[in-house]
Amino acid sequence: MIHRHSEVSSVRSVLKKLPRPHALVPTMGALHEGHLELLRAAREHVGPEGTVIISIFVNPIQFDRPEDLTSYPQPLEQDLALCEAEGVDVAFVPEAASLYASDHSILVTDSLLSKHLCGATRPGHFDGVLTIVLKLFHILHPDLAIFGKKDFQQLALIHRMVRDLNVSVKIIGHPTVREEDGLALSSRNRRLTPAHRADAPRIRRALSAARDLAPSGEQNPQVYLDAARHHLLLEAPADFKIDYLEFVDSLSLQPISKFVSPATLATACLYGDVRLIDHIEILP
Ligand code: PAF
Repeated sequence: MIHRHSEVSSVRSVLKKLPRPHALVPTMGALHEGHLELLRAAREHVGPEGTVIISIFVNPIQFDRPEDLTSYPQPLEQDLALCEAEGVDVAFVPEAASLYASDHSILVTDSLLSKHLCGATRPGHFDGVLTIVLKLFHILHPDLAIFGKKDFQQLALIHRMVRDLNVSVKIIGHPTVREEDGLALSSRNRRLTPAHRADAPRIRRALSAARDLAPSGEQNPQVYLDAARHHLLLEAPADFKIDYLEFVDSLSLQPISKFVSPATLATACLYGDVRLIDHIEILP
């Protein structure tokens, strides 16, 4: 039986009584198989006696485009039924007004890892993500928290925040879950038209085509970028756009000038106003 709470004080008091370890899966709802995998991983980590917590909160301060926030799907009752079926113990479903005072003015800000990729094209997005994640850690005090590797820049920033701000929680990255045709699962996929959905595996194919150049020993990052760009744009739908395509060092997330250590080719693409991200790590 799942305990559902929207108040900070009530979730805290119920969590005090539940057995540790506690694993948290932070989400914005619109749960799909990828989230369910995170919940299953959480259960595996804490065992049958431990506590699995999900937070479902569409965090307004991480949206850089108001239309993205208003169109974000929020099928809460369906989400809670899925959580119940996965044996989640506690769902924290706060209201924005109870988390953010009307004059809130403190944010968690990164000054390095967020400068490229999604951070460059979505101003303020990662400040919003880091701030809510830190707030959730303070409110819920989990022993561990699980995030999908699909959002690899987000995951890198959360690792960095936990290290730099001495937060006592173990962060676990869970592998990206994909459809059979290679499309990474995302709550945004359900907003694609059937034609866009059928086309969307091009993103994964383009990244894989670039990765296939690595065994040749090619060290020029531009060659990888050109190959990926070519496959992304080849006979693409008219309303398909590349938001960014970058090849960055896997640890510093800074663009590389020579490909000699593990690097990540990452992209965000738009089908109309639906923005999809994906990445691939490439080893020299
Ligand atoms: O990845 C997400 O769904 C969100 O960015 C997160 C981590 C739940 C913070 O709102």
